[in-house]
Amino acid sequence: MNLPSFIWLWKIAAWSMGLSLLAYLLLALTGIWMFQERTSQHFLRFPWFMGGRRQVRSLHYTIGITMVSLVLLLLAIGIVGTLGHFGSLGHSQHLIAGLIVVVLVLLSAFSATQISTRRFWARPLHIGVNMILLGGFAWVSLTGWSVVQKYLP
Ligand code: HEM
Ligand code: HEM
Repeated sequence: MNLPSFIWLWKIAAWSMGLSLLAYLLLALTGIWMFQERTSQHFLRFPWFMGGRRQVRSLHYTIGITMVSLVLLLLAIGIVGTLGHFGSLGHSQHLIAGLIVVVLVLLSAFSATQISTRRFWARPLHIGVNMILLGGFAWVSLTGWSVVQKYLP
């Protein structure tokens, strides 16, 4: 690629990251709702517009798949853009931050598929991984933001 600048590509990255963070927020909300519904005896657990547990669960699942897709898109953009510009990878901490986030997101999605009454480890794994993922998102955003400065006119 012989483009004068990759700024358009990094704009897509910034937008995808914003959407990923929004997805994370919605997953945390719906996840906490499911958790409360499961662990409390009180009535009126979900907001009236959300329907029952089945609906909340499939909403959570759909947003989750969206977030996984966005993170994989970001990985592809990062690798293609860096290879296009430098011809090699590994120019900053952003690489390791990005790879860690990808692993955490895939681990979260995998553990989600394992949640059941028989596999007692899956739910704590899912919740634990997602708490670490918040830190990963912060790290990848900050390092992404700082490498983007090189491409600004
Ligand atoms: C990676 C994409 C994700 C997928 C595919 C996914 C899917 C699921 C599934 C299938 C369950 C089981 C629901 C049930 O017990 O009926 C679950 C539970 C849960 N998820 Fe996720 N999830 C994802 C990401 C997240 C994130 C990012 C968070 C928090 C920030 C989160 C928080 C929770 C919580 C707290 C529970 C436990 C609900 C309970 O205890 O009943 N999830 N998730
Ligand atoms: C989950 C989110 C993200 C993942 C998985 C990811 C992944 C990657 C990877 C693997 C690289 C190659 C790094 C290297 O070899 O040095 C890269 C490069 C890059 N990414 Fe990301 N990225 C993410 C978010 C972001 C964000 C939010 C931005 C800012 C808008 C961004 C901007 C960049 C830039 C500018 C580069 C070129 C690196 C350089 O010039 O040194 N990325 N990304």
